Amino acid sequence: MKIAIIGLGYVGLPLSLQFARSGVTVLGLDIDPAKVKSLNAGRSFIRHIRSAGVREQVAAGRFSASTDFARVREAEAVIICVPTPLKQNREPDISYIVNTGKTVAPHLKKGTLIVLESTTYPGTTEEDLREVLEKGSDLRAGRDFHLAYSPEREDPGNPDSRVADIPKLVGGCTPACLKRAVALYRKAVKTVVPMSSCRAAEATKLLENIFRSVNIALVNELKVVYDAMGIDIWEVVNAAKTKPFGFMPFYPGPGLGGHCIPIDPFYLTWKAREFGQNTRFIELAGEINTAMPQYVVERTAAALNSRQKSVSGSKILVLGLAYKANVDDDRESPGYHLLNLLKKRGAKVAYHDPFIPVIRPSREHSCWAGTKSTAWNRRAIGSFDAVIICTAHRTVNYRQLARWARLIVDTRNAMAGMKTQPGQVWMA
Ligand SMILES: NC(=O)c1ccc[n+]([C@@H]2O[C@H](COP(=O)([O-])OP(=O)(O)OC[C@H]3O[C@@H](n4cnc5c(N)ncnc54)[C@H](O)[C@@H]3O)[C@@H](O)[C@H]2O)c1
Repeated sequence: MKIAIIGLGYVGLPLSLQFARSGVTVLGLDIDPAKVKSLNAGRSFIRHIRSAGVREQVAAGRFSASTDFARVREAEAVIICVPTPLKQNREPDISYIVNTGKTVAPHLKKGTLIVLESTTYPGTTEEDLREVLEKGSDLRAGRDFHLAYSPEREDPGNPDSRVADIPKLVGGCTPACLKRAVALYRKAVKTVVPMSSCRAAEATKLLENIFRSVNIALVNELKVVYDAMGIDIWEVVNAAKTKPFGFMPFYPGPGLGGHCIPIDPFYLTWKAREFGQNTRFIELAGEINTAMPQYVVERTAAALNSRQKSVSGSKILVLGLAYKANVDDDRESPGYHLLNLLKKRGAKVAYHDPFIPVIRPSREHSCWAGTKSTAWNRRAIGSFDAVIICTAHRTVNYRQLARWARLIVDTRNAMAGMKTQPGQVWMA
């Protein structure tokens, strides 16, 4: 069997490799020629995906990459994993899905299965994607080709999380579409969960991400409240999680990051308006989470103040720029909000991140592109008036930090159990 996977990013690449390992021949398609060249040469461009794994599948002839989208003709099934960001005004931007549909449609053959994996609002597959595919191909979904939705559940940086072990939800436009899609994923994934429709599968993915956003907002709010009462939120969450039922832990932090949690809930907010519905939990969680970087800046100002210093003129280091620990993904990272807010208040800012030696150009933080990670040594780290732990990578030596840094603002409880001086560590 040969399939095509469109969009070789954090979702599409591991999925391609999993299908290839399962014996399916995979043609990876991407608009970025640099990624295609790198993969065909057996090199991964994502830190937690090993190049050896790519090389193995390329050498076995089970995986190759291309920018030639006409080659979808060669595939029995096409899986779409392209980005779904928000526009400036926080409305969904499904243009990547629509453009992919337009590109694929003229090459669509009878009997092909098309599956969308990108996170999006209910209705995207059966309304938006179906329309462009049918228009550009003169074929009908459900009659001439099959159409389905199956959301990706990726946990980047978690070594225990493997694509094959994560149950896969699948919804189809018709019972036949569902059957085809279930059969496809069963080749590569242990558990496939059939659902009644594409819309229900789209809605489930949004529930999963909204659940995280709301619960993170809840602990972030409690962090501020408990701090005012002199209670440590980390101690409280760790104690609560000893309860064997009815509780699952979420941890506070400097704000949301990544491609999913800060963005996806607003896909539903937008679509809900079409039905005259409000999404108050989503809005409130968004409000609380987006206020977190400002809270961290205020705590940093208070910490500096305790040393007779002001934010303006101080040298401040943001430690950990990736949006979560142990990955090199800096999309939507709250670290950038901290850098921007502190710079605006007159601080001299820098960052250290072992996984991001230099900030790559991007649409979101173009002004920081080219900035290099500060060296990790006593002289460099000791030269800062304050260090803010934004993301707690495992490979950072926090014992050294305790010895080298004058003042530490800890948003991740990374300094717990370390020997530090009185007044040296401020929780935020
Ligand atoms: N990253 C995650 O952890 C994660 C988890 C679950 C779901 N998702 C969802 O999966 C989707 C993809 O996310 P990602 O993190 O893999 O994004 P990504 O930016 O890492 O990868 C997207 C890839 O698509 C390519 N691309 C862009 N436009 C294209 C087009 N028109 N045709 C072909 N390729 C194109 C880009 O070059 C890039 O390689 C999003 O909807 C996201 O919300 C992501």
